[in-house]
Amino acid sequence: MKKLDWKNENGEHFENHANDVLLPVYPWLLHDFREILQVSLPQTRILEIGCGPGFMLEQFSRVSPSGLTGLDRCYQMLTRSLASGRSGEAALVQGDACNLPFASATFDAVFSRGSVFFWSDLPCAFASIKNCLKPGGQALIGGGYGLNTPQEIIDAVVLTQAGRDKSGIPRLDTSSLAEIACGIGGTARILQAKKRGFWLHWQL
Ligand SMILES: C[S@@+](CC[C@H](N)C(=O)[O-])C[C@H]1O[C@@H](n2cnc3c(N)ncnc32)[C@H](O)[C@@H]1O
Repeated sequence: MKKLDWKNENGEHFENHANDVLLPVYPWLLHDFREILQVSLPQTRILEIGCGPGFMLEQFSRVSPSGLTGLDRCYQMLTRSLASGRSGEAALVQGDACNLPFASATFDAVFSRGSVFFWSDLPCAFASIKNCLKPGGQALIGGGYGLNTPQEIIDAVVLTQAGRDKSGIPRLDTSSLAEIACGIGGTARILQAKKRGFWLHWQL
């Protein structure tokens, strides 16, 4: 089995994986976002952290084309997002979750999927997120395949995951994420389900 270097991936592997396997999942992640945050999307300025090759930017673009920003620390991920046209009119920014290059109170909402596992300093990242969110802003940060995704989609994804090497993905204690967030401000809760993953919903 080919061992993946998750930390230094240039995006080729992930883009193929997303196209081949995860594509049906992304609309359901948008569904989770809408259901959990209860925001009116066209009026929401959204930052996606760790946007990768742009599959969620594509979803957000359809409902909230203006005021959308995708950030990733990996330049090649951003060029894949642009070249594919998935990012639409979103602003693309290279940067690190732990030191977000945005002015205070820029965004209404932050979204991040499958990226938090790789952030080197979680308290720093969460402080940076709080700073760029407006007062009353919300963040949805997590990993996996969505809480409302139909079971047949989950089953198909899980089947393709069998035998995949995930040893390079650091393990996260989700309750410690909520503790870090609450320590910085606002309220935080973890929503999770077996084989589906989790969301941290943080409300300032
Ligand atoms: C598994 S991919 C997920 C991509 C996308 N969120 C999706 O679900 O299709 C993880 C992404 O997080 C990015 N990433 C990892 N650590 C990061 C950090 N500290 N700051 C910003 N982006 C980061 C990686 O470059 C990669 O594009």
